[in-house]
Amino acid sequence: MPNPLRWGILGTGNIARKFAEALAKSETGSLVAVGSRKQETADKFADEFGAPRRHGSYEAFVAEGAVDAVYNSLPNHLHLEWTTKCAEAGKHVLCEKPLTVNHAEAMRMVDAAKASDVFLMEAFMYRCHPQTAKLVELIRDGAVGEVRVIQAHFGYSLAGSANPYGNIRLQNAVGGGAIMDVGCYTVSACRLVAGAALGQSCSAEPEGVSGAAHIGEIGRVDEWATAVLKFPNGILANVTCGALCAVGTVLRVWGSQGSLEVPNPWFPGRAAEVETILLNRDGKETEAVSVPSQQGLLYTLEADAVASHLAERQAPWPCMTWEDSLGNMKALDRWRESSGLAFDCE
Ligand SMILES: NC(=O)c1ccc[n+]([C@@H]2O[C@H](COP(=O)([O-])OP(=O)(O)OC[C@H]3O[C@@H](n4cnc5c(N)ncnc54)[C@H](OP(=O)(O)O)[C@@H]3O)[C@@H](O)[C@H]2O)c1
Repeated sequence: MPNPLRWGILGTGNIARKFAEALAKSETGSLVAVGSRKQETADKFADEFGAPRRHGSYEAFVAEGAVDAVYNSLPNHLHLEWTTKCAEAGKHVLCEKPLTVNHAEAMRMVDAAKASDVFLMEAFMYRCHPQTAKLVELIRDGAVGEVRVIQAHFGYSLAGSANPYGNIRLQNAVGGGAIMDVGCYTVSACRLVAGAALGQSCSAEPEGVSGAAHIGEIGRVDEWATAVLKFPNGILANVTCGALCAVGTVLRVWGSQGSLEVPNPWFPGRAAEVETILLNRDGKETEAVSVPSQQGLLYTLEADAVASHLAERQAPWPCMTWEDSLGNMKALDRWRESSGLAFDCE
C-alpha cells in the first residue's frame, strides 16, 4: 500500500501492547502515536513499540494531527467518551469490545461515527479471522442440517493472580464483570451462528434472553454467569462465562443432521499452524475441517480489515458491523438485567 494507515493507540495496557505488536506485522498500517494518562507511560510504550509521537493526556492525543485511525483500548466505561471525541476529531476508530457499557451508549457512539463520517468497528478480532468465515459457510451450507442448539463458553479464573479485584474485569465502576469481558464473545458467536442458520447475511437477534449470574461482594460484578437465548425457528443457545471460573473456551452447534465443534473459537491462530472445526455428520466419522490459522496474525488481520474498508465506514459481516454491535449490546443488556447486574455509571 502506498500510504499505510497511520494508527494511534489510546491506552497502554495489556491489549494495547498486543495491538502494537500486531501493527508491526501489518503492511496496511503502522503505529505513529500513543496516548496515556501519564507522559511517562506514553513515553515508555512509544519507545518500546517505536511510536514517534506520544501524549501524556487523552485530550492531547485526540488533537494529534498525524493519526488517521485510533485503536481505543481503554476500560469499557471510557469507550463511549473517547471514541466519540476521536470521531469528532475526524479519526476512524477501532474500539475494544464490548462497544460500550450498554445499548443506549452504543447507539450514541454509532450516531457519532455517522455524524462525523468516520469508520467504526467493535474489536471482536475472531470475526475477522478465516475460521469464522468457514464456520458461517458450513452452517449456511447445511453441514449440520437445521440448527437447533448452540453452546458457547468463554471463562478463565483470576483467582491465582496477585490482586484479582485490582483488575478492571472485577470492578463495577469501569463496567467490568465476566459478561462484559467474555460473555460478550459467547453472545456474539451464538447470534452469528443463528444468523447464518436463518440464511441471513447478518447476526440474528434473540427473541428472549434469560440469564443468571453470581455477583461478587467485593467487585459488585458477575464473577461467573450463564444465559439461554431463544432465536427464531426454535434455535436455542446456551452461553457461559467466567472471570473467577475457568469454564474454558468452546463453541458447539447441534443440528438436525449432525453437529460441529470449534475448539478454539476466540483466539484462532494464536498457537497452532492450522485451526480445525470438528464436524460430525450423522452416522459418519468425525471430519476435521482445517483452516489456515494465519499464525500470530489474529490482531493484524483485524487492523487490515479496518484499512481495507475505511471507505465504507464499516467492515462487512462477519466482521462486526454497526448493526451487529447494537444487537450484541442489546442482548448483553438483557442478560445483565435478568441477572440483576447494573453499573454505577449507568
Ligand atoms: N480483543 C481482545 O482480545 C481483548 C483482550 C483484552 C482486553 N480487551 C478489551 O480492551 C480493554 C482494555 O483491556 P486491558 O486488558 O488492556 O486492560 P488494562 O490492561 O487494565 O489496560 C487498560 C488501560 O486503560 C487506561 N485506563 C484509563 N483509565 C483506567 C482505569 N480507571 N483503570 C485502569 N486502566 C485505565 C490505562 O492506560 P494509560 O495508563 O496509558 O492511560 C490502562 O493501561 C477492555 O475494554 C477489554 O474488554 C480486549
